[in-house]
Amino acid sequence: MINGKKIRLRHAERADLPHFVRWLNTPETRQYLDAVYPFAMVEEEQWFENLLKDREHYLNFFVIESIETGEPVGNLGLHMVDQRNRWTELGIMIGDTANQNKGYGTDALRTLLRFAFETMNLNRVQLRVHDDNLRGIHVYERCGFVHEGTLRQNLWKNGRYHDTHIMAVLRSEWK
Ligand SMILES: CC(C)(COP(=O)(O)OP(=O)(O)OC[C@H]1O[C@@H](n2cnc3c(N)ncnc32)[C@H](O)[C@@H]1OP(=O)(O)O)[C@@H](O)C(=O)NCCC(=O)NCCS
Repeated sequence: MINGKKIRLRHAERADLPHFVRWLNTPETRQYLDAVYPFAMVEEEQWFENLLKDREHYLNFFVIESIETGEPVGNLGLHMVDQRNRWTELGIMIGDTANQNKGYGTDALRTLLRFAFETMNLNRVQLRVHDDNLRGIHVYERCGFVHEGTLRQNLWKNGRYHDTHIMAVLRSEWK
């Protein structure tokens, strides 16, 4: 377990998959993910089998669990880790709308950053965020991420193009 204040990060079990599918099919959550098609359980099971075969990827994918309830509330993955240049790109979701805005995302990100910099010895953590994800941007800035650039109109959503912002935090800034 990697313990934060409100949440802990742990590795995923097969029993988590129904939660992942439910979260990915929740419109308010999925609108900010690069998800277009509905998710089926069978697809998630296949994804998980592939994840288990890729040990590094599996180890760097975490379930966010509420310390208070012991229930999974989201997940957080380091989608790639560049070992030579010491950076990674993360993705996060707090799945059920009832669990959003409760401080879980902020605590999960702070916990992950501490782990990434102090344990994994990474130097840079980056992410991509849609321009209309104002809550996400607010939370990332609070955790030390700064805006580095914009991929203009690289996203078609709800009948119009959107920008995607690249944000990152360096170990020297985080300290
Ligand atoms: C983005 C996300 C990870 C944030 O986690 P969270 O647990 O909901 O966020 P927290 O409770 O830690 O913090 C929420 C903050 O955003 C603020 N906020 C909420 N809605 C907002 C909005 N529309 N605009 C600006 N700020 C907003 C809250 O007021 C709070 O800030 P405060 O503590 O200063 O008042 C989570 O909401 C989520 O997974 N959303 C759906 C999927 C997603 O967006 N994933 C990230 C893709 S890049």
